[in-house]
Amino acid sequence: MHIDEHSITDAVIRSFDGCDNPRLKQIMTSLVTHLHDFVRETRLTEAEWMEGIRFLTATGQKCNDTRQEFILLSDVLGVSMLTVALNQARSPGATEATVFGPFYTDDAPRLEQGADIAGDAPGEPMEVDVVVTAPDGSPIAGAQVDVWQADEEGLYDVQRATLGTRRRGRAAMKTDAEGRLRFRGVVPTAYPVPTDGPVGRMLVATGRHPWRPAHMHFMIRAEGYETLVTHLFREGDPYLDSDAVFGVRRSLVVKIPSSPKPVLSHTFVLDRLISDSA
Ligand SMILES: [Fe+2]
Repeated sequence: MHIDEHSITDAVIRSFDGCDNPRLKQIMTSLVTHLHDFVRETRLTEAEWMEGIRFLTATGQKCNDTRQEFILLSDVLGVSMLTVALNQARSPGATEATVFGPFYTDDAPRLEQGADIAGDAPGEPMEVDVVVTAPDGSPIAGAQVDVWQADEEGLYDVQRATLGTRRRGRAAMKTDAEGRLRFRGVVPTAYPVPTDGPVGRMLVATGRHPWRPAHMHFMIRAEGYETLVTHLFREGDPYLDSDAVFGVRRSLVVKIPSSPKPVLSHTFVLDRLISDSA
């Protein structure tokens, strides 16, 4: 056996011959093929390879319970949205999905209809009045709706060290018998993704801006339906055409009238769950 820059790819691919998980074998084979092609195509230097190792190490080291730098990296490279777009194809009329993002937490306060989810978060109060329906328009009662949003200064609760583990600007709620959910938040504003880590330094180095257009996050779950992870974006935002994480879908851009007071209204249409055996 002689390994050189031509034979090494086949050698690595053959090393997976004993893998008894066909999907894992397919993924590893493809990953190695593309990684090797990338190294050959760019003629990656050893110094650049080491810089890449440092970057990925720093990305992992930046992660903790409330900071997910790897999701952010996936987001700004468009990998998150590409995965969503491939896997979350919706039937006509169903609400489109977009990226999950790095700021969801599973410990949001469980709140009732009409709640003020903002608490003492800074921002202009905004009424939210949404309905969750099936594809035929029938309401889905008792749907679990998780919402999370940044405050007026563009920060999520988890980004403010002074709040500790206290949560605000997020909630877990349920739709009523008419599939409706009303609550109060704050008018969303555009915000930059975190730039104090390796992903932010990469954005600066590549001449990219870190801004996301103003939005509110929703995750909606109901038995018998596909889980929907999406945002509603604020119409008129200057960053709708250059979202740092490539998450904008035209159908998710919503007008938020400001008078007599800001209101965000929308109807979410969930796809029915189709079992794998169908
Ligand atoms: Fe967000």
